[in-house]
Amino acid sequence: MNSDTDKPLHLGDLEGIKRSGVRIVALTAYDACFAALLEEAGVDIVLVGDSLGMTLHGAQGTLGVGMDEMVYHCRSAATGTRRALLLADLPFMSYPDATRALENAARLLAVGARAVKLEGGEECLEIVRHLVLRGIPVCSHLGLQPQSMLQRGGLRMHGARPEEADRIRRAAPLLEEAGAGALVLECVPDALAAELRAVLRIPVIGIGAGPDCDGQVLVLHDMLGLSPNPPSFSRDFLRGTRGGVREAVANYVREVRAGRFPEARPQPTPRG
Ligand code: KIV
Repeated sequence: MNSDTDKPLHLGDLEGIKRSGVRIVALTAYDACFAALLEEAGVDIVLVGDSLGMTLHGAQGTLGVGMDEMVYHCRSAATGTRRALLLADLPFMSYPDATRALENAARLLAVGARAVKLEGGEECLEIVRHLVLRGIPVCSHLGLQPQSMLQRGGLRMHGARPEEADRIRRAAPLLEEAGAGALVLECVPDALAAELRAVLRIPVIGIGAGPDCDGQVLVLHDMLGLSPNPPSFSRDFLRGTRGGVREAVANYVREVRAGRFPEARPQPTPRG
């Protein structure tokens, strides 16, 4: 989005992009090579996601990913980015309280992340506030929260049940008030994502949350057709291209910006 100015993008810039009506494009990358390729293709946010537990390590989920691995991949991806916003996940158990969250977020910022993402709603308000007050830009993550899969039933749509939808509805504005600069909504009904997009000042970045979001994020390996069990809401952008990975990513950027990806759908089935 900022490619015209070449100015590095920060989390605080995303509200302005939302207001301008331009869709925000995000993808995961875990190393310098792919991070650079994404940036060249015009991706706004390079997410060093803890999805690397699945995409790189072949695990069933994200619970085995630790801080040292996140720091390693974040440092590598940072080498490949200049303009794009490098967002890094705080992995499982790296933010059990505000003090540990701050220590670990600082480690990610020290190797080049410009913001951190953490999963959780009302139970995380104090942590979000603590980080933001100390200068750490925070993106929240609601809906399907892979780090809570053992507790919350994991890989399914979240927010279809009224009590779940209400929990998300309550948490989102509180996270915004606590200082979160963006909200990732994973695997929630399209209508709920659209509703939150309308009430929040900060951008809603959807994954399996339908087309009515301020931006979209996908896992790189899913959209390149490399994952053994990609979620039904993803699309293989590599299939049928002649220009390989660069063309696939450029197509994704174009389709998201044009509002053509994702299409409205009945109900998504999550990854796995
Ligand atoms: O870890 C990750 O890649 C993520 C995305 C699924 C949003 O959090």
